[in-house]
Amino acid sequence: MERTRRLRTSNYMRDMVRENHVRIDELIYPIFVTEGENIKHSVESMPGIYQYSLDRLSEEINRIKEAGIKAILIFGIPDHKDEVGSGAYAEDGIVPKAIRQIKKEYEELLIIADVCLCEYTSHGHCGLVKDGVILNDETLPLLAKSSVSYAKAGADIIAPSDMMDLRVKAIREALDEAGFVYTPIMSYSAKFASGYYGPFRDAAHSAPGFGDRKTYQMDPANGQEALREIGEDIEEGADLIIAKPALAYMDIMKEASMKYNIPIVAYNVSGEYAMVKAAAANGWIDEKKIVMENMVGLKRAGAKMIITYHALDVAKWKRKDKMKDTRSKELYERAKVHIPGGVNSPVRAFRAVNRTPRFMESAKGDRIIDADGNEYIDYVCSWGPGILGHAHPQVIKKVMDSCENGLTFGAPTEKEVILAELISE
Ligand code: PBG
Ligand code: ZN
Repeated sequence: MERTRRLRTSNYMRDMVRENHVRIDELIYPIFVTEGENIKHSVESMPGIYQYSLDRLSEEINRIKEAGIKAILIFGIPDHKDEVGSGAYAEDGIVPKAIRQIKKEYEELLIIADVCLCEYTSHGHCGLVKDGVILNDETLPLLAKSSVSYAKAGADIIAPSDMMDLRVKAIREALDEAGFVYTPIMSYSAKFASGYYGPFRDAAHSAPGFGDRKTYQMDPANGQEALREIGEDIEEGADLIIAKPALAYMDIMKEASMKYNIPIVAYNVSGEYAMVKAAAANGWIDEKKIVMENMVGLKRAGAKMIITYHALDVAKWKRKDKMKDTRSKELYERAKVHIPGGVNSPVRAFRAVNRTPRFMESAKGDRIIDADGNEYIDYVCSWGPGILGHAHPQVIKKVMDSCENGLTFGAPTEKEVILAELISE
């Protein structure tokens, strides 16, 4: 079996033996919601990422819906900050307001609420501060309170990112007590004190005002300790585990996924996104190739889900790649058996340029949809002449007559194939 190349000989062969896949269902897209009006503010270090005020949030929700994304991670930017981060747990805070609004606009969308104090505290730390020390146990009730307020607003999953000890337990108890027994906790368990969060802190206005986060976030050198963190969070009641950042920490995901029977979520963070975007903007790398390679790499490393700012792009690319012609191919093969040349003239034209003809399946408004789910604008008089504006009135008449007689003109349908098969039998 030394000739491993045997399994790489064709597209179909490679498709068949592929071990890991990136699925749109498993992508989580982070969004930033800010107080204020008429705001769509681009985050400079994260091209394509914006902060939205509530009155413009629908634009983002529509993009998400269109891309087919099923889960978002929501971050809030309040209009005022204080020592105790009260904006984080206020019932009318930016995050609960946004959640309520999104639930109205896109009910099925899974909303994961990030829980932390750093966007809301004047000192920018993830917990309460006294004499320069980030307090652990005193912070827990505030995280619990925030979690309950987000759950009340309609959050589907609570995601604490603060890295205080024992916060999963505190949040679980508070959620249960408030009646949210079925709301899962996605814990940022293995979160490292990383330089990769730089662009996020611009986006969320959450950079610490003094010192750093090293007394609560993990040392990048420690892999064993990460496993201990994960183990503790599972014991405290976490349902899903985040490892973060992603690319420089794939070993953590791999080991965690082998050791624990719980879904691991990779957080492909802001700095990782910024690096790819910058290099792509310079033409130094092929953005799609690099992003898809990063994504499948995370899957291979054991991540079940991926939180990524690339989510909309990935979904778009995947959709385009699906614009293959698997089902059309199959229908064409069937058609060729019974119909000389494989049906009508556009079909032959398609074949002349070495493509499989598209079999139309249904129509909706000004669109027609093929057997593989691709949508096209319906140029009734068939592709070529219609697009070039060369359709002769007589042709148009002919087409209309044909339509009235219930015949397709231009593209084949499965019905024709079935009919041909019936006749031949
Ligand atoms: C807040 C939080 C951070 C991120 C997610 N939640 C920043 C931080 O801990 O400083 C980072 C996300 C990213 O960089 O994309 N605790
Ligand atoms: Zn924080």
